[in-house]
Amino acid sequence: MVSNIQKVAQTAYRLFSRICGNSDVLLSSQNVGLLTSMMNNIKDKDVNFDMSKISLESETPVSYIDIYEDPVMTMAIFIIRDGCKIPLHDHPGMYGFCKVIHGSARMKSFSDPQNFNGNPPENIASKIRPYLRHSIKPVVLEEESIISSEDNCCVVTPNHGSYHELIAVNGPVAFLDILAPSYDHSTGARICQYYEEIKGQTEQIKHLGKPLIWFTPISQPSDFWCDPEEYEGPSVVDALNEIVK
Ligand SMILES: [Fe+2]
Repeated sequence: MVSNIQKVAQTAYRLFSRICGNSDVLLSSQNVGLLTSMMNNIKDKDVNFDMSKISLESETPVSYIDIYEDPVMTMAIFIIRDGCKIPLHDHPGMYGFCKVIHGSARMKSFSDPQNFNGNPPENIASKIRPYLRHSIKPVVLEEESIISSEDNCCVVTPNHGSYHELIAVNGPVAFLDILAPSYDHSTGARICQYYEEIKGQTEQIKHLGKPLIWFTPISQPSDFWCDPEEYEGPSVVDALNEIVK
């Protein structure tokens, strides 16, 4: 029998293998909706995840459970310890489906602004060293909310919500993540870049009704790293072998 998580993986793989390697092709809204509705039903038991088995005593801010990874897509579970965070980062040209399966997190997400060519105001630009000013970038704030296992999955598309940070609140949080196409650090096609909001912004400047914020790229923060944990759920590798036979 095919389990829920295996069905999700098979559906995701069928959809994303069609568009992998062609960044001009987007998923239809029906297919985004299909995968979203399947992810909405995923619970911790579907991936055999039990927070009580995770050691929360260590210094590690985030644990990572690898479920599946190839160039088409990556499936993983992230566990963020109470008060820790996955810092602000991006998903360039990627889709992301993020379903909380235990606890809750505060998520803040941003998008590239459509049809915006403006320069940063002088009070923002002046905070950045002149030789770094070319790298600062505008984004629009999409939402800031608390997401829990009762909520639907959060969806990232190449045009919506490509930048986000997640902070565990009221205890540890775990979420299942599907990313497609996968990050590609070997060719540099899709690199995970970290950012921070340039200080002193008031969210008063709007673009198409949404607060316009300026980011500066940063190195991976030293207080963020991931340690691995073992996946104990149904095999996604086996399920995907079935559909490519
Ligand atoms: Fe992310």
